[in-house]
Amino acid sequence: MMVALRRLVPRGLLGRALLIILVPLVVVQVVALFLFYGSHLDVISRRLAAGVAGDVAMVVELLARNPRQEDRGWIFREAAWRLDLSLALEAQATLGPSANRGASLPLLPLEEDLAAAMRERVGLPFDTDWQSDPRSVIIRVQLPDGVLHVEAARKRLFSGTLYLFVIWVVGSSLLVFVVAGLFMKNQVRAVRRLAEAADAFGRGRDIGPMKPEGAAEARQAAIAFNAMQGRIRRFVESRTEMLAGISHDLRTPLTRLRLGLAMLPEAAHEDAQGMTQDVEEMERLIAAYLAFARGEGLEQAQPTDLVDLVGEVAAKARRDGAQVDVAAESQSLVMPLRADALRRCLGNLLDNARRHARRIAVGVARVPRGEAGAWAQVTVDDDGPGLAPEKREEAFRPFATFSAGGTGLGLAIARDIARAHGGDIVLEASPLGGLRARVRLPV
Ligand SMILES: Nc1ncnc2c1ncn2[C@@H]1O[C@H](COP(=O)(O)OP(=O)(O)OP(=O)(O)O)[C@@H](O)[C@H]1O
Ligand SMILES: [Mg+2]
Repeated sequence: MMVALRRLVPRGLLGRALLIILVPLVVVQVVALFLFYGSHLDVISRRLAAGVAGDVAMVVELLARNPRQEDRGWIFREAAWRLDLSLALEAQATLGPSANRGASLPLLPLEEDLAAAMRERVGLPFDTDWQSDPRSVIIRVQLPDGVLHVEAARKRLFSGTLYLFVIWVVGSSLLVFVVAGLFMKNQVRAVRRLAEAADAFGRGRDIGPMKPEGAAEARQAAIAFNAMQGRIRRFVESRTEMLAGISHDLRTPLTRLRLGLAMLPEAAHEDAQGMTQDVEEMERLIAAYLAFARGEGLEQAQPTDLVDLVGEVAAKARRDGAQVDVAAESQSLVMPLRADALRRCLGNLLDNARRHARRIAVGVARVPRGEAGAWAQVTVDDDGPGLAPEKREEAFRPFATFSAGGTGLGLAIARDIARAHGGDIVLEASPLGGLRARVRLPV
C-alpha cells in the first residue's frame, strides 16, 4: 500500500511542489463545490421548479373551474403573456406510459426538481420533454378531458450563474497551477544546475564558478559550492606544487651522488654498482613524480574513447613482453577523460599484473549504476598468485608493497586518478585465478 503510494508520488522537486499546491487546492475547491451544490444550488433549483409547477397548477385549477370553450381561450391568452407559458389542449387524448424524455444538462438537478414540484403541486399524471426544444421544456398533464401541453421557457428553471461558479472553480485552479508551475520550474532549474555542476566538478572537469540564481537558499548553496570549489582547487594546486618542489629538490643531491659514485676509484666500482643502480632508479621515479605532479594533476578532461585508450595501454604492455587479451563490449565508448592520467592508471595495473602473472585479460564494459546512469568498467585480470582479501585494501596505501623492487605507489596513484574522475578501483579475486583490478568511471 505505502509502496504503491510512494510510486505514485512524483520523484522530482517540480512534481512534488506542484502536488503540494494542487492537492489542497483541489480539496478546497471540491468542498466549496459540494457546499454550493448541497445548499445554494438545490434551494434555487427547487424554488424555480416550484414556481413553474405552481403556475401549471394554477392553470389546471382555472381550467377545471371554467370548463367552457370561451373561458379556455382567455385562460390560455393570460397564461401566455402573464406567466410565459404557451398552452394547448389535446382533447380526448391520454398520456402514454412514461414518455419522459430527460434533460441533457450535466451537473444540474433541474429534471428531478421539476418532477417533484409537479407531483406536489399539480397531483395529476404528467410527463416532461426536455429534448424537443432546446429553449423550453414541454410538460404534458393528463386532465379529465384531454392532455394539456405546457411549454415553459427553460430560463424560468435555470440560471446561467450556476455554470459560472463551476467555470470559476476549475479556471482559478488551473490558473494557480500554471503560475505555480512556471515559478517552481525556475527554482528547480537552479537546484538541478547546482547538482550538474557538482557532478562535473567531481569528475575533474574545470567548470569555473557558477552563477547563483533562484531562491535565497539555492543561491546560498551555489555560493557555498563556488567557495568549496575554490578551496579544493587551491588545495590541489598547493599539493601539486609541493610534490613538484620535493621531487625537484631531491634531484640535485641525487645527481651529485651519482657523479660521486662515478668518481670513485676503479677498485670500488664493483661495490658501487648496486648503489648506482639504486640512484638511477630513484632518479627515474622522481622524474615520474615530477611529470605526474606537473602535467597530469592539471590535465583537463576531454572526450576520449576509452576502448581506444585501453587498446593503447595493452599494446604498450605487449611491447614490454606481456601476454594481454583485450575484450571490449562495444566498438567505442567516448566519455570525458584525462587521457594521460588514465593511461598511467591502467598502465600501473597492467604493470602489476605483468610482474605477478603470465596471462593478462582486460575487459571494457558498460554496467548499470543505480538510477544515476552507467559506469564504464575496465577489469584487469591475471592468472598470478592473487592477493589475500585482507591485503587488498592495504595495497592501495602509498608505499605499501609486498614484493621486492616495488615502491608501493602504483596502486595509490591509480586509485587517485580513478577517484579524480569520480570513480574508484577495487581489487577482487579473478576468474583467471589471480587478481582482478576493477576500475569504474562514471559515464
Ligand atoms: N596483480 C597482482 N597480483 C599479486 N599481487 C599484486 C598485484 N598487484 C599488486 N599486488 C601487490 O600489491 C602491492 C602494491 O602494489 P603497487 O602497485 O601499489 O606497488 P608496487 O607494484 O609494489 O610498486 P610500484 O607499482 O610503485 O612499482 C604490490 O607490492 C603487490 O604485492
Ligand atoms: Mg605496481
